[in-house]
Amino acid sequence: MRTSMRLAIGLCVALAAGCAATPPAKHLAPSANGAAGAKGDALYRALGGTNGIAKVVDAALVEIHGDLRINVFFEKTDMADLRRLLIEQLCAATGGPCEYTGRSMEEAHSGLNLTDADFDAFVEDLVRAMDSQKVPKDLQKQLLGLLGPMRPQVVGQ
Ligand code: HEM
Repeated sequence: MRTSMRLAIGLCVALAAGCAATPPAKHLAPSANGAAGAKGDALYRALGGTNGIAKVVDAALVEIHGDLRINVFFEKTDMADLRRLLIEQLCAATGGPCEYTGRSMEEAHSGLNLTDADFDAFVEDLVRAMDSQKVPKDLQKQLLGLLGPMRPQVVGQ
């Protein structure tokens, strides 16, 4: 390897960010979906990886389906697709080895005119789902902490 190249790579590592030759690890990059992004994969692993996350998403979709406050929004939604995208999104946001391939939160919720009450109901359903899957409260808090900042991208679109 040429010295200049080695120097450039060394510099990139030293600076750790903003260098084309060494893009930050996927899970450290700020994500396009509005989640702040987890540092490392500790939360992903604590939740039981993709399987654990899939169980939470399945339980949440059952809760949402039975929630008269918000289930009407999902009448025309392809739920298999939504399930896959939610798993991808939560996996990526918690530092897992997934790529979120869905739309931005603004785009996905555009035209739904969701309110804060709708958002709160959705979060309540998610908490009920995590309770049913015996997710410890401290992990629940961490996950909700990643979703909370998405509120303005979801509500009022
Ligand atoms: C932080 C909270 C939320 C997250 C992380 C989230 C995540 C997602 C994701 C990943 C998608 C799929 C995107 C795509 O199709 O490309 C989606 C779609 C959707 N979300 Fe949310 N969502 C949230 C809040 C809500 C709330 C509060 C409601 C309604 C009460 C809602 C209703 C919907 C509906 C109806 C769709 C499907 C839209 C369609 O079929 O085109 N979401 N959401």
